[in-house]
Amino acid sequence: TRSPVNVTVTGAAGQIGYALLFRIASGQLLGADVPVKLRLLEITPALKAAEGTAMELDDCAFPLLQGIDISDDPNVAFDGTNVALLVGARPRTKGMERGDLLEANGGIFKPQGKAINDHAADDVKILVVGNPANTNALIAQAAAPDVPSERFTAMTRLDHNRALTQLSKKTGVPVSEIKRLTIWGNHSATQYPDIFHATVAGKNAAEVVSDEKWLAEDFIPTVAKRGAAIIEARGASSAASAANAAIDHVHTWVNGTAEGNWTSMAIPSDGSYGVPEGLISSFPVTTKDGTYEIVQGLDVNEFSRARIDASVKELEEEREAVRALGLI
Ligand code: NAI
Repeated sequence: TRSPVNVTVTGAAGQIGYALLFRIASGQLLGADVPVKLRLLEITPALKAAEGTAMELDDCAFPLLQGIDISDDPNVAFDGTNVALLVGARPRTKGMERGDLLEANGGIFKPQGKAINDHAADDVKILVVGNPANTNALIAQAAAPDVPSERFTAMTRLDHNRALTQLSKKTGVPVSEIKRLTIWGNHSATQYPDIFHATVAGKNAAEVVSDEKWLAEDFIPTVAKRGAAIIEARGASSAASAANAAIDHVHTWVNGTAEGNWTSMAIPSDGSYGVPEGLISSFPVTTKDGTYEIVQGLDVNEFSRARIDASVKELEEEREAVRALGLI
């Protein structure tokens, strides 16, 4: 039988954690034949709540779940970790400036990056979900010089999935027949969901839609501001859909994209498409055998260029800000 894969989840007692852990334990993250060991990291006051979640995980009697460890020490929680899901973060509270937010998150992601550097398994893959996700990933990466830099990724899969459904609703074509959609840039309101290379039922999506007003004034803002719309409706931020996207992100990274399709992941730029090297920005990527590649050679029109550049500019500003704070 296979040896178990160690999966660390930070912020395990939070609402995304609650929606995520049961799906990991049931085999949806890595596959129905892959046993897992869960490592839950929480801050000390939330350890008891994490223990409660662990009790419920026990009570599911998941055949693939081979153990649950809970800790408030990153050095313990990341020991031997193969997949690290960095969910716990410091949310922006009223009156908080961006600098304060980045500094507070630096206090979380810098030590976690260091602990990953010192204790994770050689094949570790890291997904940062906690916001500001792209820049938190950059902070963790900078603290982990011994880990190959491309292992640090941030989540734009929720934005990707949101865009799929909006395009499906507009065209009446099921999401299963929509391919090659791309989220570019930052996981923030500046992100750019791009349908110019997408296909719906085999036809070019932009041509099928043929409605630039809808694109600019409806589709893009609906996808980009969906997080705020969920908070408004639900009274709490997206949790199950965020957990679902985290599952999708890792599952695709490990198991590969289908022939002729791609996905969106925020990954360290190699300079492709004019995105400055090193920024953790969302790109169209194909995956295979646990590695990914940026889709090359796409023609970026003026409409797209301006929007990609705006989001990348925001990422550059965030990078400058964390550099000024000494976090990278
Ligand atoms: P939550 O507030 O319910 O849970 C966060 C948990 O993290 C709490 O239990 C807290 O105790 C824990 N935590 C805080 N600092 C920690 C540390 N240093 N180590 C370990 N755990 C720590 O928040 P929720 O709803 O689960 O969201 C988590 C994060 O995910 C937020 O930053 C949110 O903005 C982000 N998010 C990202 C999305 C994306 O698409 N990238 C989508 C939705 C949410």
